[in-house]
Amino acid sequence: MSASSFSKVAGISAAAALLVALATPYLSSFSPPQLASFVSELPIRDYPFIIPFLRNTSTSSSTDHDFTCDTLHPYRTELVSLDPLIIYIHNLISPIEISSLLRTAEPKFAPSKVTKHGYQQNTQDRTSSSAGLPRDDPAVLCVLSRARNFLGTMLRDGWDEMGPPQLVRYSTGQRFNVHHDWFDSLRWASDDSNRKWNRIASFFAILQDNCTGGETHFPFAKGIAAPNPWGGSSWRGGMEDQIQRQDEVLKPLWREHEDGGLAFRPIAGNAVFWVNLHPNGTGDLRTNHAGLPLLSGQKTAMNIWPRQYYPAE
Ligand SMILES: *[C@@H]1O[C@H](CO)[C@@H](O)[C@H](O)[C@H]1NC(C)=O
Ligand SMILES: *[C@@H]1O[C@H](CO)[C@@H](O)[C@H](O)[C@H]1NC(C)=O
Ligand SMILES: *[C@@H]1O[C@H](CO)[C@@H](O)[C@H](O)[C@H]1NC(C)=O
Repeated sequence: MSASSFSKVAGISAAAALLVALATPYLSSFSPPQLASFVSELPIRDYPFIIPFLRNTSTSSSTDHDFTCDTLHPYRTELVSLDPLIIYIHNLISPIEISSLLRTAEPKFAPSKVTKHGYQQNTQDRTSSSAGLPRDDPAVLCVLSRARNFLGTMLRDGWDEMGPPQLVRYSTGQRFNVHHDWFDSLRWASDDSNRKWNRIASFFAILQDNCTGGETHFPFAKGIAAPNPWGGSSWRGGMEDQIQRQDEVLKPLWREHEDGGLAFRPIAGNAVFWVNLHPNGTGDLRTNHAGLPLLSGQKTAMNIWPRQYYPAE
């Protein structure tokens, strides 16, 4: 990775402004500085290089509840978009894991911040609360280990890292305006390894979906195939997930949003995965997304941001 390939990242901001200018009425209400905002790190140390592979029940003495990691937990995936890569994951996190994660995080929720113009700040762009998760918690390790295995060759063991995960919670009226998860410039590693990093990809997994509204909207995302020439609907993914949910009308898990792009409904246990960076390491603006306002209830989700590292020059 040469220094010059990163010096060109500044050009991305102009592209962001252009994308906003070209976008729909919903999007044109967002100014470029908001687009340049991203989710901040919580002040948690980097993870060690390798997430331990859990092959057994693990009970932590540091928590007051027992937790057993099901390393064979089955999940199911559906391709959503190839470029950028977006994959819908059914049942990534089990109800037992969800309860354990929520119990651990509950006392830690605080107003979410974003980093803008290099500073962490509270902002009306993001009106949720966030909670960091301890890295030695068995449920956290269990889910991170599953996510790491999902990533396969995207991460290099001993070099890249899973990063510290966090939970985010939205209640009625709360939202997160259009933003991206990658950083505009590389971040220094907090250890003395003389490396820099960025968020190569994102998992956004829903833990609590007791809400209306609150879809995750990717304004620039498109399905893989061209629209159906016969005018039918596109793939109504994962309808069978809904069969047990007798309290509501069967609705697809995601839809084409009226302002363009795709919107994913919050469904507990399910996750959206996407790749944030182009192969040359620059951020992919097509991964911009928003947490649409909650009309009622509460939504809690888990952010996992795997990090790709670069040698500092
Ligand atoms: C990186 O790759 C993207 C996608 O191919 C391209 O649009 C962008 O101009 C490239 N940026 C640099 C700095 O090479
Ligand atoms: C599983 O963990 C228990 C206690 O944590 C240990 O006694 C046992 O040997 C482990 N089994 C395997 C197969 O690692
Ligand atoms: C869902 O949220 C509503 C409003 O916050 C609350 O009244 C209700 O008890 C919740 N239901 C469940 C099952 O958690």
